[in-house]
Amino acid sequence: MDAATSLKKKLAILLIVALIFILLFNVNLPNNNNKSIPKPSGPAGVCSLGVSEQTITPLKNTKHLLVSAYVDQRVKDLDIRIIGIFKRDSIQPLHCVFCCTNVLSKTTPATILQHSDHFGFPFATTDVMCQIPQNCNATRVTLLTTPDKESASDSTWLPIRNQKSDRQKEENMKFDFTVCISNLFGDYNNVLQFAETLEMYRLLGVNRVVIYNTSCGPELDRLLQNYSQEGFVEMVPWPIDKHLNPSRGWLHSEHGGDVHYFGQLTTLNECIYRSMERSRYVLLNDIDEIIMPYQHDDLMSLMNTLQNQNPNTGIFLIENHTYPKKPFNQSKWGPLPQWNGVPGFDILVHIYREEPNRNIYHPHKLIVQPRWVIMGKMVECSALAFI
Ligand SMILES: *[C@@H]1O[C@H](CO)[C@@H](O)[C@H](O)[C@H]1NC(C)=O
Ligand SMILES: *[C@@H]1O[C@H](CO)[C@@H](O)[C@H](O)[C@H]1NC(C)=O
Ligand SMILES: *[C@@H]1O[C@H](CO)[C@@H](O)[C@H](O)[C@H]1NC(C)=O
Ligand SMILES: *[C@@H]1O[C@H](CO)[C@@H](O)[C@H](O)[C@H]1NC(C)=O
Ligand SMILES: *[C@@H]1O[C@H](CO)[C@@H](O)[C@H](O)[C@H]1NC(C)=O
Repeated sequence: MDAATSLKKKLAILLIVALIFILLFNVNLPNNNNKSIPKPSGPAGVCSLGVSEQTITPLKNTKHLLVSAYVDQRVKDLDIRIIGIFKRDSIQPLHCVFCCTNVLSKTTPATILQHSDHFGFPFATTDVMCQIPQNCNATRVTLLTTPDKESASDSTWLPIRNQKSDRQKEENMKFDFTVCISNLFGDYNNVLQFAETLEMYRLLGVNRVVIYNTSCGPELDRLLQNYSQEGFVEMVPWPIDKHLNPSRGWLHSEHGGDVHYFGQLTTLNECIYRSMERSRYVLLNDIDEIIMPYQHDDLMSLMNTLQNQNPNTGIFLIENHTYPKKPFNQSKWGPLPQWNGVPGFDILVHIYREEPNRNIYHPHKLIVQPRWVIMGKMVECSALAFI
């Protein structure tokens, strides 16, 4: 099958799927507002108090925020990576303390790694590395401002994710492809483009789309509730606006605020670790962007080819190109009748790429094997990709 036919076929299927979906969706709205958050189960005692159930946890006695903790033993003598958002002018020494099954560990000094791409904002993505003391079966971790472990009694613990038991061999990774969508905020309600993009990714073999949600419009909320019940979409609550004054822009001197673009660099970093033990490839992009292979039927066969050509490569950069707002058929301006009442932009009538201007720089999107991404690399690439 040649590429053009294959693309046409995909678009046709997508159109049908999306149509059925929207039609059914309008008639049959699930009510899932009363989903309860499961209580964490674990041993009673010193460690069972105060386990954070939030995605963003303020760190006691500091101005910093903690997001999540992951096992990461790729660097010798370091075991745990805590992902956080730290106030750059208030970095102080920190100490790691663990909950070892049900006993408090002694503290170990924390290694604080601030990402360099802060764009002038007072808060920046910061990773904290911790070593687990010997003979400790660590289940939870927190950070203290003093080496005195007794001060941990009223701290909030972070559960340690990607523990050995949930780890799998590369061959039995649960997912081939995860897409990480950077933050949703404001009253963004572009349902049509969102649905078309998600269905396109499904056709291209994506198994999971992770979305960090600060807020969104009512119709998009319903659409995403449905996709996340089905399991294709994983919604991560991202109430950054409850803790900081997030910027809608990427440069502090122009846009003001506490943190770059609703903390986008932190969420993408988080998404890579979230995917590390379960997804072979991770694609980092925005919802208004699609990576569309034109010589392969799906993303996995594209990656197999690229990987054969570049066997020792774990980070692939894909050049950004624009599809003009003008639809491909001039006489078809305006919404198609079948999308009446569906808010948003119809990407399927924009199928011709603008000829790239080779005199200007085009930014890149990333497809990574998550285990290949280490801090330094990530910083370097994120500066390229997300400006
Ligand atoms: C989501 O919407 C589709 C299409 O309307 C429907 O078939 C499916 O049952 C819905 N899923 C959930 C979990 O509500
Ligand atoms: C460590 O703790 C986990 C969870 O409580 C348990 O499943 C595991 O068996 C423990 N491992 C050791 C070596 O004690
Ligand atoms: C997104 O976040 C907002 C604000 O917390 C919430 O009201 C909404 O239900 C969330 N949507 C989804 C699909 O998770
Ligand atoms: C990709 O290119 C388009 C047009 O040049 C631009 O509007 C968009 O912001 C770019 N995306 C990124 C992430 O730079
Ligand atoms: C553009 O749309 C018009 C009206 O639907 C149709 O008559 C025409 O054949 C279309 N042209 C192309 C190139 O698809």
